[in-house]
Amino acid sequence: MMAPTYLGAIMAFDSFEADVVGVPVDALARLLQDGLRPKLLYTIPEHQNPTGLTLSRERREALVALCRRYHVLVLEDVAYRELGFDGEQLPSLWSLAPDVVVQAGTFSKIFFPGVRLGWAAGPASVIARMAIAKQNTDQCAGALGQRLLEEYVRGGHLDDQLVRSRALYARRCAAMMAALEAHMPDHVTWTRPRGGFFTWVETGVDTVALAARAAAAKVAYVPGAPFHPGTGAGSALRLSFSRVADDEIDEGVRRLADLITTASEEP
Ligand SMILES: Cc1ncc(COP(=O)(O)O)c(C=O)c1O
Repeated sequence: MMAPTYLGAIMAFDSFEADVVGVPVDALARLLQDGLRPKLLYTIPEHQNPTGLTLSRERREALVALCRRYHVLVLEDVAYRELGFDGEQLPSLWSLAPDVVVQAGTFSKIFFPGVRLGWAAGPASVIARMAIAKQNTDQCAGALGQRLLEEYVRGGHLDDQLVRSRALYARRCAAMMAALEAHMPDHVTWTRPRGGFFTWVETGVDTVALAARAAAAKVAYVPGAPFHPGTGAGSALRLSFSRVADDEIDEGVRRLADLITTASEEP
C-alpha cells in the first residue's frame, strides 16, 4: 500500500517486532470495518515527513472518531507543527480527542537536534507507562540541555526564532517549487508543502538506482522506498529544502531534472 511515513518511526516500531502496515488516510475506515485491529495508529498530521502534506480538518475529525469507535490509540507526531509557513494551525488530534491520542513532539526542528529533548501529552495511564519506559531507557534527559531550553524559551527566543524559521523555510520552499516547475520533465509531479522541510517527488524512474548518479553530480536526496513499511514507491524521492543555501536550489534541481530526463529515456 502506498503510505509513506517517517523512517525513524518505522525503524522504532520494527525494533519491537511490530507488524507495521502502511494505511492511506482514506482507506482506514474500510480496513477497520474489515477487521484490522491495530494497537496503535501513528501519524504526522502537519507537513509530513516525507511528503510535506497536511491532514485536513475534516480528515482529522474523521480519524479520531474512527479511532475512538474502534479503540485504537493514536500517536500524533507533531515534529513540524510549528513550522507552517503562514503560521496557521489546524486543531491537533490531541486537542480533538485527548482520550485516544498521545501527542509526541520534538525540539529538534525548532531548537536544535543535538539537545535530544521532546515531550508527550496524552491519557494519564499511557503517559505514566511512557515515563517508566523512558526512565528505563535513558534514566533521564540531560539536565544541561533542559536548562538551555528553559532559558531560551523563557527569554522569548523560541518565539522569535520560529518567526525567522518559518520565513526561511517558506522562501526556500518557494525557490524549490519554482526550480521544479522550471526544470522537471512533464511526467514528474511533486507535492506543494505549506510548511516543514520536504517535498515528495514522483519521478517515474528508479530512485535507488539514480541516487549514485545524483551523488556524483553533487545532488543529495533520499529515495522513497525506505519510507514505506515493507516495499513501495521505488520511483519517488524526498527532496529537502530546509538546509540547502538559497542560491544552490535552482542548480541542484536542474541537475536532478537532467538525470531524471536521461534515466527516463533509457530502455
Ligand atoms: C516526523 C519526525 N518525527 C521525529 C523526528 C525526530 O526527532 P528527534 O530528533 O527528536 O528524534 C523527526 C526527525 O527527522 C521527524 O521527521
